[in-house]
Amino acid sequence: MTRVLVAYGSSEGQTATIAERVGDVLDSAGHEPVLIHLKHPPSGLDVAAYDGVIVGASIHAGSHQGYVAEFVRDHRETLNRKPSAFFSVSLTAANADPVEREPARELLEAFLEETGWEPDGTLTVAGALKYSEYGLVKRFVMRRIAGKASGDTDTSRDYEYTDWDEVEAFALEFSSQLS
Ligand SMILES: Cc1cc2nc3c(=O)[nH]c(=O)nc-3n(C[C@H](O)[C@H](O)[C@H](O)COP(=O)(O)O)c2cc1C
Repeated sequence: MTRVLVAYGSSEGQTATIAERVGDVLDSAGHEPVLIHLKHPPSGLDVAAYDGVIVGASIHAGSHQGYVAEFVRDHRETLNRKPSAFFSVSLTAANADPVEREPARELLEAFLEETGWEPDGTLTVAGALKYSEYGLVKRFVMRRIAGKASGDTDTSRDYEYTDWDEVEAFALEFSSQLS
């Protein structure tokens, strides 16, 4: 059975939820996924012991979690030798207009350039607005950002924009590359 490391960074939980769905797809396809939150990686994590690696991160204030970039930089050579894939979660990717979505792709490319990683697959995927989980300041800031982008501003509820079909297709495509 092939073991796949699904390592992610998540600040409000949506990337964690997406990583779980990726894990479910891999599991259904007969692989053994192991999920880890990179903010608290287990000691002695041996990336080289896995048959493939999927990394996920979300965008906040124009960049992905620094601890995810650090993980990728630290394990770049191993990642570049194995089947690997990266998914980037953001609100920019939720935009209906492809031109408005372009910055999400640019930030993903910048992350790869900066870390020196060349994954086999990449995905920019829409995240969520979780007003109920933000503190007062964050809620205010996100409401303003959403308002400027003609997005959802009713802070009495949360919004999930993730396209689960897209996530499952990404995980299935990766799974097909594993022997
Ligand atoms: C404080 C804050 C800043 C954010 N900044 C950006 C941003 O610069 N660009 C963007 O596309 N999305 C931005 N987002 C949206 C997040 O990427 C989105 O909510 C995502 O689902 C977060 O994933 P996570 O819950 O795994 O951290 C921001 C969200 C918050 C709360």
